[in-house]
Amino acid sequence: MCGIVAYVGHREACPIIIKGLKRLEYRGYDSAGIALLNGNLNVYKKKGKVSELESYISDKDTHSHIGMGHTRWATHGEPNDVNAHPHYSSSKKIAIIHNGIIENYSSLKQHLKNKGYEFHSDTDSEVFINLIEDIRENNNISLAEAVRLALHEVVGAYAIVVISHDSPNQLIAARKGSPLVIGVGKDEFFLASDATPIIEYTNEVVYLNDYELAVIRDGKLEIRTREDVAQTPYIQKLELELESIEKGGYPHFMLKEIFEQPRSILDSMRGRLVAETSHLVMASVIEFENKFKNADRIIIVACGTSWHAGLVAEYLIEEFARVPVEVEYASEFRYRNPIIKEGDIVIAISQSGETADTLAAIELAKSKGAMIFGVCNVVGSSIARATDAGAYTHAGPEIGVASTKAFTAQVTVLTLLSMMIAEKRGTVETSMLRQLMMEMEQIPAKVERALQLDTEIKVISEIFKDAANFLYLGRGFNFPVALEGALKLKEISYIHAEGYPAAEMKHGPIALIDANMPVVVIATKDSSYEKIVSNIQEVKARKGRIIAIVTEGDTVIPEMAEFVIEVPDTHEALTPLLSVIPLQLLSYHIAVMRGCNVDQPRNLAKSVTVE
Ligand code: F6R
Repeated sequence: MCGIVAYVGHREACPIIIKGLKRLEYRGYDSAGIALLNGNLNVYKKKGKVSELESYISDKDTHSHIGMGHTRWATHGEPNDVNAHPHYSSSKKIAIIHNGIIENYSSLKQHLKNKGYEFHSDTDSEVFINLIEDIRENNNISLAEAVRLALHEVVGAYAIVVISHDSPNQLIAARKGSPLVIGVGKDEFFLASDATPIIEYTNEVVYLNDYELAVIRDGKLEIRTREDVAQTPYIQKLELELESIEKGGYPHFMLKEIFEQPRSILDSMRGRLVAETSHLVMASVIEFENKFKNADRIIIVACGTSWHAGLVAEYLIEEFARVPVEVEYASEFRYRNPIIKEGDIVIAISQSGETADTLAAIELAKSKGAMIFGVCNVVGSSIARATDAGAYTHAGPEIGVASTKAFTAQVTVLTLLSMMIAEKRGTVETSMLRQLMMEMEQIPAKVERALQLDTEIKVISEIFKDAANFLYLGRGFNFPVALEGALKLKEISYIHAEGYPAAEMKHGPIALIDANMPVVVIATKDSSYEKIVSNIQEVKARKGRIIAIVTEGDTVIPEMAEFVIEVPDTHEALTPLLSVIPLQLLSYHIAVMRGCNVDQPRNLAKSVTVE
């Protein structure tokens, strides 16, 4: 939710910042702006994508060795030039970029207005910078000290960078709740919302913690807490490859990420599973073995696609480990005074590791004594750091806003987790566990085969690209996949789509079915196969247009469905990893054919750091 980049050093700042903002555009793309210091403090900003800003500044003098930029996902105020960041203070001597949300901004704004401050935008960030200016002027203190004191006044989440006309070699940054990484180069520093703008210049980074303030001045980095206690910067090595954040010949990141799944699923299993030797290891589960053995209940908290992965986990854990599982939207859980007992384990699932609602749900569960287990993709993210234990999904950077490989990586890790808990609790026969492990090892190759359906799915996409609605149906392990298929389609193609458990259809949605309604049914050979065949008949009887995802070799459903897409056979519990692939491809092709921006769909952002 908004991306920020800043640079100070011996290179030209502007190209580094613009390139960095393009890498961070997945975090928001309503408007973009840049502030550069070169004698003057110049701010340039534009509604729209970073490329609009780039053309706007092409005839400006952008020569500078220090600056900062922002790409926005609007929270306060509509997306326009004025609300774009950076924001000047009233004196125009200092400027801010801000990712996050200041909850008490209206009372602060009123207080500043009473003192004569004028505001030009509708943003909370302009209030923040004027608050800093006010504190500095009233107390006659340094800018860094004024920022530190201002952090005590604001309520909410922020990652900010502040620069000043009067200090041409200084960047001041602070964070609480929104991510901020500092890249440490030779006589140069980079600041960014994640490491992608930094990786080609240095692999040494410092992750700023909540309530910390970084002052980069005259080539030195100093970190202090909000309470003014000096901290020693902890420099870590980045494990990120430049190629993994580039498109590598694909027209879109989303397609690249869909096709990366055989590898990313393998990476999620690497070191954790070897069927031949019955090796099933997740270090953090071993560390908390007793907790998992004795858990009374598992509560899963997540949002969006990660919540769908959580639903798959509910089926897996209850089936194999026989522990009751509840899956909660983090946004509901955090506000409804949930009952959490000491024997509960809370599993938080998040690709970005920055989702505000999931983070808040974790804090709540922690305060009630639950043990928190994280399943995150982004290493070092806020959620990964807030949990007691966890397992990274190792899917690699996911840049397309619509989640694809992160979902299958989450499901992979959660499958292994359910098997491990089952092993510890002795709820599954060893021979059965071994068979599951062997099936699991074959999944990457089977996903590879499912990806070969691409051309076939493109043909089907052409036929349905103008549909106004879609219905997705599934049962059992594939009910969450139906939800995920519908979410993928609506978010990138803007076609209205609903996912339902197939048997629920007759309790309402069946009224929607007519000859114009495409109905995608996941009907792989599993324990509910006969039941779903009946559901297909019900759709057919109402002239719905059926696109069925079936197991290779099925001879029954092709007689009923208008289109069938065959995925390889596997154990019933593992089918979500295969059945979701054609649904990802279907939504991708339909969106491309409708001329939509698949990697950056309207109104969305990759990490939702506001509630
Ligand atoms: C959908 C999508 C979102 C995210 C959701 C949670 O394609 O990407 O629904 O799944 O915003 O994000 P994370 O997993 O980062 O917590």
